[in-house]
Amino acid sequence: MSRKTIIDIKNMKAKTPVVVLTSYNALTANLFDKHVDILLVGDSLGMVYYGMESTLPVSLEMMIMHGKAVVKSSDSALVVVDMPFGSYQGSFEAAFNSCAKILKETGCHAIKIEGGVELADTIKFLTDRGIPVVAHIALMPQYVNAMGGYKYRGRSEEERAKIIADAIAVEKAGAFAVVLEGLEESLASEITKKLAIITIGIGASVDCDGQVLVAEDMLGMTNNAPKFVKKYANIAKIIDEAVADYASDVRAKKFPEIEHCFVKK
Ligand code: KIV
Repeated sequence: MSRKTIIDIKNMKAKTPVVVLTSYNALTANLFDKHVDILLVGDSLGMVYYGMESTLPVSLEMMIMHGKAVVKSSDSALVVVDMPFGSYQGSFEAAFNSCAKILKETGCHAIKIEGGVELADTIKFLTDRGIPVVAHIALMPQYVNAMGGYKYRGRSEEERAKIIADAIAVEKAGAFAVVLEGLEESLASEITKKLAIITIGIGASVDCDGQVLVAEDMLGMTNNAPKFVKKYANIAKIIDEAVADYASDVRAKKFPEIEHCFVKK
């Protein structure tokens, strides 16, 4: 199977919705690959798999390990890896070196960075040097301290004007797609119509060119999923029941049965 390219994704604008799901490991990459257009190795892995309170402590090394596993275990979806906090904001050179390391060591096809107008020059520096960029604006989890929480954006006229400026700036700087997270519905729709690049919504609007969710949230594995998540399964319940059955079998000495043992014939 041939891997989707950035050109394939760009060509989906206003034609076919782009399906994006997070994947942090070989197991889910393998399962999701044939269903999605983009696998996003999100820095949300810090909270989902490492129990961190925010995405801020996630390191470049963590993203490399997880990114490698996802690339190796997929052959159809485009793989985008999140740049962790602190790896790209310091200077153009720091951003280029971090992104180049991620691309070389994981084999991924693009990177994602959070930021609008303020990061536009960095995005231009990267895209001018052959690094495909997905931007991420509106609710930016790496700005949790600066923004005072995870509240949805686009409430005031001033905030709406700033987010529109962010969207235009990242497009102009060369990003091929932009994630719109936690954004008031009509504004997400308006931005999607305004931009020529792909918008990927999460807690945004059905009018976005594509949608992304954290896989563990939509599969019902987490217990603190945001309001905008639709749960497509209740895997936590299935795991809970299976583990309870296993524990009870072990305690009752019902497992292993002879068929699970090696018996010399
Ligand atoms: O880190 C992540 O998983 C993300 C998505 C939620 C867009 O950035």
